[in-house]
Amino acid sequence: MEHVTASINLAELAHTSPELIGDIRSDHAGETGAVMIYRGILAGTADPVLRAFAQTHMATEQKHLDLLDGLLRPDQRSLLLPLWRVAGWLTGFLPTLAGSLAVYATIDAVETFVDHHYEAQIQKCAPTGMAGALRTILLSCQADEVHHRDEARMMQAAPVSIRTRAWAWLVGAGSKAAVAAARRI
Ligand SMILES: [Fe+2]
Ligand SMILES: [Fe+2]
Repeated sequence: MEHVTASINLAELAHTSPELIGDIRSDHAGETGAVMIYRGILAGTADPVLRAFAQTHMATEQKHLDLLDGLLRPDQRSLLLPLWRVAGWLTGFLPTLAGSLAVYATIDAVETFVDHHYEAQIQKCAPTGMAGALRTILLSCQADEVHHRDEARMMQAAPVSIRTRAWAWLVGAGSKAAVAAARRI
């Protein structure tokens, strides 16, 4: 996959798609937040099943972040990265205070959002050439996120409380706002 990344020149691709740098900046910000979500979870929980879940997911998110790091120059990254790190950490840590079920509901909400986020970008990429190479990267990230979502959904053995549903809604709305901001800043 690193080989594919090396063959993508975003500046060249951006000629045909002016929103592209903003899109990738938002992906990079999101994956930065994703790694921190799992750090927050690991800081807050002693549940061994949840810790194993968080550790495996965190390794995948780090791979996504490394891929996007390879695409964007440092000056093209979000200026608000410190904010996305804190927001991500809190998004993982806070639900641990309510229990593991709330954490799985949080990951379900985040990954449902991220699936749609990547899908919208995949739709914009032509299947061949450099856009096709970018599309392959986005598709592979999306597949991992869908897998994360399904795993989190499977772990929600009992129906979640209204409080957790409200929190999950907030997480979805927060993700949307963060992406809109990271596209520009
Ligand atoms: Fe990811
Ligand atoms: Fe993920």
